Amino acid sequence: MEPVVRLNRVSKRFRELEAVRELTLEVEEGEFLTLLGPSGCGKTTTLRLISGFEVPDEGEVVIEGQVVDALPPFRRNVNTVFQSYALFPHLTVFDNVAYSLSIRRRPRGEIRSRVSDMLERVGLADKARNMPSELSGGQMQRVALARALINEPRLLLLDEPLGALDAKLRRAMQLELKHMQANLGISFIYVTHDQEEALVMSDRVAVMDSGRLQQLGTPAEIFERPANPFVAEFLGTANFLEGEIEAAGAGRCRIGIADGITIEAEETPSLVTGDQVLATVRPQKIRLSLDDPGAPGAANTFPATLKEVIFEGVLVRLLLESAGGIGLEAQGLPDALPFAYQELVPGQRMSVHLPPEAVLVYPR
Ligand SMILES: Nc1ncnc2c1ncn2[C@@H]1O[C@H](COP(=O)(O)OP(=O)(O)OP(=O)(O)O)[C@@H](O)[C@H]1O
Ligand SMILES: [Mg+2]
Repeated sequence: MEPVVRLNRVSKRFRELEAVRELTLEVEEGEFLTLLGPSGCGKTTTLRLISGFEVPDEGEVVIEGQVVDALPPFRRNVNTVFQSYALFPHLTVFDNVAYSLSIRRRPRGEIRSRVSDMLERVGLADKARNMPSELSGGQMQRVALARALINEPRLLLLDEPLGALDAKLRRAMQLELKHMQANLGISFIYVTHDQEEALVMSDRVAVMDSGRLQQLGTPAEIFERPANPFVAEFLGTANFLEGEIEAAGAGRCRIGIADGITIEAEETPSLVTGDQVLATVRPQKIRLSLDDPGAPGAANTFPATLKEVIFEGVLVRLLLESAGGIGLEAQGLPDALPFAYQELVPGQRMSVHLPPEAVLVYPR
């Protein structure tokens, strides 16, 4: 089936700045695709290229099989919900949602039934007669969404639509949006810099940095198998150990780190003995115990000094340092740790174990 959107090596420069570089991406019918990346990586520019508010310097934008580079925004079957949702302040909720149908001179009866139905879907049937100033942030966001969805676009672009909401409402709206998207069968391209939000909502995530696509995959793929250290760090990997491959073969490799520490990991086929590498491991995967092994042992185990215990309620974070000053962070659920975290004392020695299957290795 024809993808709803295809970006074919699209680049966009603002003077010397390459905001988007050779971006190639397809969005399938009914898919929820998220553009994820830090501030300034080119997310909004990508949406603007798709909606027609920017024209690519190179490459082409194809919507439903048609190259749209010469089409103005209003000729594309695309709607956008911006972060500042800009409702019409002098119109009621009903009239805000009805606006685009009114200017297209749809019959009154049709407008009434379509707007009522849409307000029902976003849970605002009882607010139809209210003014925007009488709504909460989350309700305003839902009006903005209803206003975009009333046109029944094949594709909806959403630029950090939940950015202004508090954490609790944001979580509720994440699920609501995801369910609404699935029910309507509309393709969403969603922009966020919040990795958790991207994981919760998306069918696939496109991770961007400096205008370039770093990885495209399902939430599980980008989280479990980050393509490079940038993606790993952006998705919460805090531990990066510099080392050199000492041996590789039979599915395994051995990496020498400073301080006499050696780490075994699954073999990365492109890496060979002598290569300089970064070994990464997520804080949740590190295993700790209270017995001091004295010196680095076999099997990915070595001593470290506890520097700080950070209690976050659901999580406990432990900051550690090896003899040679390599910093590490471990995390665990308070009840699942093999010791009582309340009894830990900064300065005490602990044993760190990095499970081989949890270590991912990248060239550096
Ligand atoms: N009209 C413009 N003129 C000049 N530079 C621009 C213009 N629009 C964007 N840029 C620059 O292009 C880069 C990408 O901007 P963009 O708005 O796409 O980032 P973003 O990923 O949406 O960031 P944020 O998360 O902060 O919204 C930034 O460095 C930005 O300053
Ligand atoms: Mg932006």
